[in-house]
Amino acid sequence: MRDLRRLHLRFASRAVHAGERPAPRDVVPTVTPIYPASTFLYEDLDRMDAALGGAEGLFVYGRYGNPTTEALESAVAALEEQEAALAFGSGMAALHVALLSCVEAGDRIVASRDLYGQTITLLRLVFGALGVETEFVDILDLDQVEAALAKGRVRAVLCETISNPLLRVTDLPALAELTHRYGARLIVDNTFATPYLVRPGTYGADHVVHSATKYLAGHGDVTAGVVATSAERRWELNELNKTVGSILGPFEAYLVLRGIKTLPLRMQRQCANAVRIANWLAEHPLVERVYYPGLPTHPSHETAVRLLPPGEYGAIVSFDIREGTRERVLSFLRSLQLIIPATTLGDVYSEILYPVMASHRGLSPEERQAIGIGEGLVRLSVGIEDPEDIIADLEQALARLA
Ligand SMILES: Cc1ncc(COP(=O)(O)O)c(C=O)c1O
Repeated sequence: MRDLRRLHLRFASRAVHAGERPAPRDVVPTVTPIYPASTFLYEDLDRMDAALGGAEGLFVYGRYGNPTTEALESAVAALEEQEAALAFGSGMAALHVALLSCVEAGDRIVASRDLYGQTITLLRLVFGALGVETEFVDILDLDQVEAALAKGRVRAVLCETISNPLLRVTDLPALAELTHRYGARLIVDNTFATPYLVRPGTYGADHVVHSATKYLAGHGDVTAGVVATSAERRWELNELNKTVGSILGPFEAYLVLRGIKTLPLRMQRQCANAVRIANWLAEHPLVERVYYPGLPTHPSHETAVRLLPPGEYGAIVSFDIREGTRERVLSFLRSLQLIIPATTLGDVYSEILYPVMASHRGLSPEERQAIGIGEGLVRLSVGIEDPEDIIADLEQALARLA
């Protein structure tokens, strides 16, 4: 074992080394420590060799793995009831690497047309340039999905459990069966639902992807992504990510891990608030239409009842403002006092977004119209505040439009 004290180091060397690399102690901290080290010391070079060869439980370099990040990965794998998980620097990086692990030039992807706007751009721009073509389908229409799969060379099917922003709920068991029948892998973005509501891997999804920036972390203070999957596919993803390098830092991993501890409590409260608010909005004369899977009027209500826990349908509520021009929507957003206009969701505080201006900005008006995103649509991410305060804020802002 190295003992620097015996070397009688000079001041500059002591400044660099003193206090570092203490011998491991027989203590177990109750909370996972943050390990900022970009590399790890092995006294025994044979062990270092094993670590570089990818031996289980050994860490050698920050881009290959980190103990804090690994703790987060185990937590997400446990919540999603999967063998393993791999963390990424963002939800987009997680989607990128999950897709990359399935395809090569000449292959095809079948994707839901109801995806986060940037995911559509990823498929079109990045995968398009790699020679991987994507066919966008109505993922709830299984005949359409099958027709696209039957054209051949489809290696991946991509959907969101609860879609952004119209909150259509995918029939995961049926889609998994169909996807596997054609030899493709099913990638499910479970960001909106979270494993609290549904665990797509238990219905056959091969990769369960999260923007952990949202509900998993829950406090708007970190950008992160994660994929839960089998141990074998996690290895594939990690081999790719060692080269792509979209890793999550240990500080960020710690924040997500801390957020996860209250995920069930936050989700219970947020879902209950959302049910109240969706019902209130549905009665409001200045609201043309409410999109919430908990409402019997939502086209996915039956699937939501089948797949989600009783009475809990997620915490996003989208709605069309009557005569919803861009000016009227922006005036409504400006009037809000409590609800924050923000390009994110899933935080403890309520946030509202105008998809035309933010998440679906990259699509043309015709493309947005085709998937049902009109000029008057807003997406509310319901927080954990007192629901009466959220409703009062919506009420006063809507009243100014009358
Ligand atoms: C459903 C969904 N998936 C993926 C992402 C991308 O996640 P990130 O912003 O963490 O890269 C988002 C971001 O809003 C999202 O809403």
